[in-house]
Amino acid sequence: MNTVTLKINGREVTAKEGTSVLEAARSLGIDIPTLCAYEELESAGVCRLCMVEITRGKKTRLVTSCVYPVENGLEVQTETDRVNNIRRMLIELLLPVAPSGPINALAKRFGVEKSRFKLEGPKEAPTNCSLCGLCVRYCEQVKGEHAVGFLGRGVNRKVALMADKGDECAFCRQCYSLCNSGRFVEMAEVFPDQP
Ligand code: FES
Repeated sequence: MNTVTLKINGREVTAKEGTSVLEAARSLGIDIPTLCAYEELESAGVCRLCMVEITRGKKTRLVTSCVYPVENGLEVQTETDRVNNIRRMLIELLLPVAPSGPINALAKRFGVEKSRFKLEGPKEAPTNCSLCGLCVRYCEQVKGEHAVGFLGRGVNRKVALMADKGDECAFCRQCYSLCNSGRFVEMAEVFPDQP
């Protein structure tokens, strides 16, 4: 097993080659916020909340830590002003869509009291879905099914139960606990009699 050594927030860490900066940070107990990362799934880099600053030589830039692989000599900062300002913007964008649950907790953590953004058009009411895709990827990668999927494009994009797989969903429900925005609390009401 090849390993690399890098620094995160000034602390040295050795990590397996091919693993992500997020995993290396977590091995140090550093809490990088995430919405679309889950250990059993391949990272997809959807929510961007796990953004960090990396420095290699004289160059510093932002990367998405859940999909960025560890490298020898890399210097990583997880809580700079630049990083946290981007996180606050992302949280502001998500708050009108999914105003409760983990997104609300993130708002409190990063000092976002309210959002400057409003929902418009077909999405006037909160959908309670951040479109992180965890449920879709869990169903596909862990269950080997496609019972949950994305429908539509752009502002009309949404997560939905596939009509021909409804019964399987009703008995499985394993993705519900991954939902970070409350959508599956609503979906649970669709199947109230199931365990
Ligand atoms: S956790 Fe990295 S992009 Fe969502």
